[in-house]
Amino acid sequence: MLVTIDGPAGAGKTTVSKELARRLGYLYVDTGALYRGVALAAKEAGISPDDDEGLKNLCGRIDLKFVPNDRGASLFLGGRDISNLIRTSEISMLASAVSARPVVREFLLGLQRMLGRDKKAVFEGRDMGTVVFPDADVKFFLDASVEERARRRYKELCRSENMTLEQVEKDIRIRDRNDSTRSHAPLRAAKDAIVVDSTDLSVDEVVDIMISHIKTAG
Ligand code: DC
Repeated sequence: MLVTIDGPAGAGKTTVSKELARRLGYLYVDTGALYRGVALAAKEAGISPDDDEGLKNLCGRIDLKFVPNDRGASLFLGGRDISNLIRTSEISMLASAVSARPVVREFLLGLQRMLGRDKKAVFEGRDMGTVVFPDADVKFFLDASVEERARRRYKELCRSENMTLEQVEKDIRIRDRNDSTRSHAPLRAAKDAIVVDSTDLSVDEVVDIMISHIKTAG
């Protein structure tokens, strides 16, 4: 059984996907972390997000992998755990920029499909149900109002970064536009996706709704 959860930044995908995977006993895969990993590697190598040749070379040589741990999994770039380094707002914006480049998407498409081979898994991202796993068993599109998504992201970021709620909301609106207007694999709900609006729901309420759909499908 393969479950996909797509949706915009701050809709609660990560929290919900982790909890859903935990309750089902499935593998959880955060594909946004992979785009963030490529963005960090590009930044460290001095490659601009619009340098396709540089990004192609980079994708040919980087070693990105998830290593399981007691909290789920850490993302490694080569021998280095980059799980925390990829969570800054700078890397969020860079990840959104590199994710618009077909060379990067092609590279990660293969990697994601390999991770999903023969596994019971919950895959979280932007194009899981539309492009990466069009035949997934159950597809969800998790949404929420932009104001609520900004509030949630602000609560997460204000521990580590000095940003105002207005700045966070502005960044989210820019990412929404980048992610949904790019020509390659834009963010949108698959035709057969179940749309869940989490604006006024708790994590448990969202997960309960998802589990009831999964039970019906299984
Ligand atoms: O889910 P996230 O915020 O960690 O994702 C970071 C960026 O990566 C996001 O702005 C768009 C991109 N992304 C994507 O294009 N496709 C995916 N499957 C996952 C993320």
